[in-house]
Amino acid sequence: MAALFARISAPFYSRTVFARAMSEAKVLVTRQVPDSFIAPLLQETSIKVIPGGRDAMPKQKLHEMVRGVDGILCTLCDRIDESVLRAAGSSLKVVSTMSVGYNHIDVEACKKQNVAVGYTPDVLTDATAELAVALLLATSRRLFEGALSLRMGQWGSWDPTYMLGKGLKGSTVGVMGMGRIGQAVAKRLLPFGVEKMLYSGRAAKPEIDYADFVSFEQLLERSDFIVVTCALTAETTNLFSSEQFSTMKNTAVFVNVARGEVVDQAALVQALKSNQIAAAGLDVMTPEPIPTNHELVQLSNCVLVPHIGSAEEQTRLMMGQLAARNIVAALKQESLPTPVPGT
Ligand code: GLV
Repeated sequence: MAALFARISAPFYSRTVFARAMSEAKVLVTRQVPDSFIAPLLQETSIKVIPGGRDAMPKQKLHEMVRGVDGILCTLCDRIDESVLRAAGSSLKVVSTMSVGYNHIDVEACKKQNVAVGYTPDVLTDATAELAVALLLATSRRLFEGALSLRMGQWGSWDPTYMLGKGLKGSTVGVMGMGRIGQAVAKRLLPFGVEKMLYSGRAAKPEIDYADFVSFEQLLERSDFIVVTCALTAETTNLFSSEQFSTMKNTAVFVNVARGEVVDQAALVQALKSNQIAAAGLDVMTPEPIPTNHELVQLSNCVLVPHIGSAEEQTRLMMGQLAARNIVAALKQESLPTPVPGT
């Protein structure tokens, strides 16, 4: 593990050569990443990598940096909209995001301009499912609240009713969005003794025989734990609002590892404050990073972690390399290993 981390943390762009011929393809990598992440790009002598900085690139800077590039390797922090495509100009051939979510990319605008779009499904499924399970348990068993209480010196003698949480055994779990990550979460939760696994979404998936497809309302009404793993689309924006929280059980634990915008956050704050639901565990929220004085951060029945679903060493390496391979393929006019569906 230590060796792997050392390799991932190796000097940034040590092999990047900047003084290359004008005819070379230029690829903007919007964030600083270890060389190993983008090895497929660095191995191509005909590609010049333009590196970004440690922080997300402000829009203005992104507009300047994309001018005349052939490819953009971006992250979910970069909004790639029409204005960015315009700023890049006709040289742009591919946008490749190092994420499974691609709601930050205007895919239709890319299609119109014949710009290929790649993303990184599959390689992050296990890591994200693992984090979802960790977050669910941390929330339902009040791990952060307990740890804080200990550090604050509030831990008295062993108490029969201290820090009681909710267990998975005999429970009903509802997964909203039974895609790759949803299925991986469900499979990991079942061995905890879950009695009923439910899921909802656009349509039933006949291949799933360990969970029942139900309406969204049924999922809300019946679940003890709700895990959100759906993609952010026009249909799922603010999917969880006051009405949905009031339909849930008062004992429900709500976990979101999808996107913050799937939730009407003000409604969630209300639901948590009024104990309309028991607790929430969030890997995603709005905005990110959330200000530390935000009401959500102050609530003891809300566990917040900083969008780390895929933050696992080997996973991030694979995401970077897949995003890089999507760029290389597009620049060679080959099919992308993982194009965004419909592109
Ligand atoms: C993370 O949120 C991703 O979309 O990869």
